[in-house]
Amino acid sequence: MKVDLTADSRSIFFRCVEDCSEPIMISDKTGRLQYVNPAWERTYGYTKAEAIGDTPRLLRSHYQSDEFYKKMWSKILNPEIEMWKGEVVNRAKDGKFVPVLLTITPYKEASETVGYMAIAVDLTERRSMERQILRQDRLASIGMLASSLAHEIGNPLGVIRGRAEIIMNSLKSGLTNTTEASVQGLDTIIGQIDRISRLIESLLKISRVPQEIRLAQVPLALMAGEVATLLGENLRRKGIQLDNRLQSSQVSVMADSHHLQQILLNLMINSVHAIEEERKRSGRTDDHVIRLDVEEGDSEHTTLVIEDTGCGLTPEVKQRMFEPFFTTKTPGQGTGLGLAIVQRLVEEMQGCIRVESRGPGLGSRMLIQLRSSSPTSPASGVTKP
Ligand SMILES: Nc1ncnc2c1ncn2[C@@H]1O[C@H](COP(=O)(O)OP(=O)(O)OP(=O)(O)O)[C@@H](O)[C@H]1O
Ligand SMILES: [Mg+2]
Repeated sequence: MKVDLTADSRSIFFRCVEDCSEPIMISDKTGRLQYVNPAWERTYGYTKAEAIGDTPRLLRSHYQSDEFYKKMWSKILNPEIEMWKGEVVNRAKDGKFVPVLLTITPYKEASETVGYMAIAVDLTERRSMERQILRQDRLASIGMLASSLAHEIGNPLGVIRGRAEIIMNSLKSGLTNTTEASVQGLDTIIGQIDRISRLIESLLKISRVPQEIRLAQVPLALMAGEVATLLGENLRRKGIQLDNRLQSSQVSVMADSHHLQQILLNLMINSVHAIEEERKRSGRTDDHVIRLDVEEGDSEHTTLVIEDTGCGLTPEVKQRMFEPFFTTKTPGQGTGLGLAIVQRLVEEMQGCIRVESRGPGLGSRMLIQLRSSSPTSPASGVTKP
């Protein structure tokens, strides 16, 4: 539909775009910038004169890969979609990163695309608020952690003191058969000290202030292969089948490979325990499976799935399993810190984790959503393929 605008209404439209508080840029069909509004200049620090004639590559940051932009442009150029909306991190002239929610649409004349318009909503403030909330949340959980910790460390300390006292008394009284009893007592003491050390090690992992981790492109097939090598023999011995569907996946995620390996190992070990629990519960040694799979979500996210045919979850366990020190294992068997650490590592990679279970005896599914774009390519801004 052709709309004829009077000079007056054209001027109104122009003022609206000029005065709009969100950054707007308009390029021609080849991607050369034709127009940027004052909000765009304020947000990115470039002047109109610097921007016009250049391309949106000017704003590239390492947060998005070429692959990301290819997918984005395939949507914009698809006649059935003709738009793209999503979050990107751009870089301003002074090097500062600017997270924005971006919408790109073609604009047309006589049904022919003549250029593209991108409107951004600056998310910087929202992100800083989110970080603040997260910090407050963390402070609240320190209180909970402290009381659980008193209990977790208090128990082995009690045992250590008791054994040390027995050894001391028997040495003082010069009993003849003290050697064997003392060795046994010292053995218990060493075991309890090791338990405290493991606890402290796990706690350090949770409470560590997140460092600037560099997320890199991690091919899921490679990662799953490594984990399968580490646990494969153990699973075979226990008669658990590993259905590794990631092996043939072409998908990569933005991750820290050590974090990702630790996450997968933790979750798979939990699955092994859940399967052993189910065997105990049902009294049957049926075949059981741990499945590693991937669900491709929107163009920016990939969901990693770790599924098992183990004991499943009651509503109470489902609700509390990510709490530090929550465990259903017998005392001394598990610290209950595994999933708290996993959650922490996932969040450090800007991902999220959730769990699904149809109920007790019906297995569980852990779903980890990560960003699928890679930062390995040099900076990528809003640019055509
Ligand atoms: N795949 C699963 N199936 C069923 N229950 C699970 C599964 N994964 C975790 N859980 C439940 O969540 C609890 C907490 O798990 P988490 O990994 O935090 O600690 P843990 O495994 O008990 O101890 P640790 O990790 O120190 O060995 C477990 O005790 C178990 O009850
Ligand atoms: Mg665990």
